[in-house]
Amino acid sequence: MDRIRIRGGKPLHGVIQIGGAKNAALPLMAVALLSPETLRLSNLPHLVDITTMVQLLAELGVEINMNGDAPNGGHIGRALELKGAEPASCTAPYDLVRKMRASVLVLGPLLARWGEARVSLPGGCAIGTRPIDLHLEAFKALGVEIELEEGYVRAAAPDGLKGAYVLFPSVSVGATENVLMAATLADGETVIANAAREPEVVDLAHCLKAMGAQIEGIGTDTLKVTGVAQLHGADYEVIPDRIESGSYAVAAAITGGEITLQGARLDIMDAVVDVLAKAGVEMTTGNGGVRVARTGEAINGIDVMTEPYPGFPTDMQAQIMALLAVSKGASMITETIFENRFMHVPELCRMGADINVHGSSAIVRGVGKLSGAETMATDLRASVSLVLAALASEGETIVNRVYHLDRGYERVEEKLAACGADIERLE
Ligand code: UD1
Repeated sequence: MDRIRIRGGKPLHGVIQIGGAKNAALPLMAVALLSPETLRLSNLPHLVDITTMVQLLAELGVEINMNGDAPNGGHIGRALELKGAEPASCTAPYDLVRKMRASVLVLGPLLARWGEARVSLPGGCAIGTRPIDLHLEAFKALGVEIELEEGYVRAAAPDGLKGAYVLFPSVSVGATENVLMAATLADGETVIANAAREPEVVDLAHCLKAMGAQIEGIGTDTLKVTGVAQLHGADYEVIPDRIESGSYAVAAAITGGEITLQGARLDIMDAVVDVLAKAGVEMTTGNGGVRVARTGEAINGIDVMTEPYPGFPTDMQAQIMALLAVSKGASMITETIFENRFMHVPELCRMGADINVHGSSAIVRGVGKLSGAETMATDLRASVSLVLAALASEGETIVNRVYHLDRGYERVEEKLAACGADIERLE
């Protein structure tokens, strides 16, 4: 199992290319199931989760062509051609869903196109129980019959999906995406109220529109979808990854360096920009990139609460905690999205951080310096927070279980090393 070794203490300087957003790419790939024509996606990141989705779609009968690198070149910007031919199967098996929860995003497209789907229940994961009840209740409103058997959801809509009013009791990114995709081919009008407004949901809606879907209210919490008979092919470029951008912004801030994030988009990360500004970190746009640097000597202690978009993203909570761990002052971080997303706290404490968790809040008292330690990653964002903390630590840190990191960060050690970090992967 790969590990990463970091010797911290070096301010990072340089340019980091931001890849396409994993969380936008995964639902966009599932969209291919909705159309018999070719969907060409570009600016896809090269990540394990993308490979898992390719495997799943291939199993479901999607014809897939790797189309090399898109014009912006380098390691990033890969393009894929996906064509939803006849289904080889309508089952998303446990082996793939277990690896990646986003596999449940094939449920809506399969139901909409073929009237049936069998998808393994994802089960628990490190950051909480994460059920899919919101997805299933919404599908029931669209006329889907749902049965649970042997760990699988068996869903059937023998007479096709019927447009309906779907009010989510709480905001869910995945459930909004799943129902949005399904509603594009439903009979009549579907209104999705209390919809997630994340940029990745907006990206999905734009791609569906490019394929002929009728969607109003994109970017708001109420989406109105009028079903059409068929979606056609399209060429679509995935948006840049706002979480990768935020993570490398923290890398610049935590080391007191200066990094330009090439291809990043500030307009989809307002809350992160605001929080970093309060902490004493400036992000400014120019020359096709975003420059990140501290405004003063130290990082300020601040309070942060995670919320659905446009609030501060839960996927940046662990990274901001690593930064605030070395601040001057005290901070309170409140997690409102996932119930068990402080798994990085004990690991950060082993590196000398002073953090106490009380229910869904963590009190972070800034310490001047962290020290290197052997650590264990528990989930994707927790892993990167340990890498970030290590960059600002004295001595050597080993981050174990790097496979979590590889699910969401492409060539993290190469990108950081190019900015002067002393970091290497141990195979
Ligand atoms: C997506 C992102 C993930 C991010 C999360 C929240 C992808 C592939 N993943 O995950 O990186 O952290 O949004 O921004 O895009 N919930 C239920 N029942 C459901 C569905 C969700 O109770 O049926 C709960 C979840 O347990 C969680 C909250 O709702 O507490 C939000 O989850 P959701 O927005 O659905 O997250 P994902 O779409 O799984």
